[in-house]
Amino acid sequence: MAEEIRFFELNTGAKIPSVGLGTFQAENPGALAKAVTTAIKVGYRHIDCASSYGNQAEIGSALKKLFDEGVVKREEVWITSKLWSTDHDPEDVPKALDKTLQELQLDYVDLYLIHWPVSIKKGSVGIKPEYLTIPNIPNTWRAMEALYDSGKARAIGVSNFSSKKLQDLLDIARVPPAVNQVELHPQWQQPKLHEFCKSKGIHLSGYSPLGSQFPGHKNNLLKNPVLNVVADKLGKTPAQVALRWGLQAGHSVLPKSANDERIKSNFDVFDWSIPDDLMAKFSEIKQERVIDGTGLFVHETYGAYKTPAELWDGE
Ligand code: A2P
Repeated sequence: MAEEIRFFELNTGAKIPSVGLGTFQAENPGALAKAVTTAIKVGYRHIDCASSYGNQAEIGSALKKLFDEGVVKREEVWITSKLWSTDHDPEDVPKALDKTLQELQLDYVDLYLIHWPVSIKKGSVGIKPEYLTIPNIPNTWRAMEALYDSGKARAIGVSNFSSKKLQDLLDIARVPPAVNQVELHPQWQQPKLHEFCKSKGIHLSGYSPLGSQFPGHKNNLLKNPVLNVVADKLGKTPAQVALRWGLQAGHSVLPKSANDERIKSNFDVFDWSIPDDLMAKFSEIKQERVIDGTGLFVHETYGAYKTPAELWDGE
């Protein structure tokens, strides 16, 4: 009998559901509310949101309807959101969370993350190189800790942090980060970061667990031969194998889909497992990061990082 791996325990003692619905870039208005509703009805108990996705109000309306109809209770659902890079000033951090709570129609989030180790000029819309500023993560973190103390964020963490940036944060943190959410999939497995996080009690959560199908990012993970061999042997889809691989590697996964059937099949990853001999095959897969910050947060003149290597500290 396979170990289900429904949850991972955080350093706060809370249990984060292992499969969450990603909500970045819903195709069209209405599609996201439908996706959230389908997901909750098929059993998802974790929705991964962010202020910068610009769609939290739609998620909030869908959640309210689900709560009002008694489909699920607030305390049964795990909601993550993220602080955008324009709101890193300590005075802006609580305001940003209040706005997120208002949009989501909630009193608290289960997890609040610093979205990127990148700061952008206050009030700017969109990302242009000249808007990039130098982050002061210790200052921002102290404001995040205050949100944790207030109970409005029941856990706090970061996203897109390298091992070095995590260590720098641990060196000054009163409340250590509970989670680091990063790109993770069979073509970007990040074993060193995994080891580091494990040794420090930080849970890793994987975005783009299907390899990121975002236009311009296509990396064909779902066509990867190793993934397909394993999928054929187990009678599962490549997407299910990629997700189950993530759970067995020890991280939560945040697949995104607007399609009812795929939302459902992406959640069908609990009553079977990848045997050890097939898990071993994943080490043969060529590694390549898809989302490296180029064109967004890396610039030779502006901001803190002149190259992707500086943003990721060589990882
Ligand atoms: P769709 O909404 O049509 O299902 P990312 O890894 O960047 O979050 O990629 C999510 C993308 O992967 C979405 O465009 C989604 O398209 C697609 N997708 C989600 N689940 C599956 C699946 N089981 N098989 C193939 N593609 C999928």
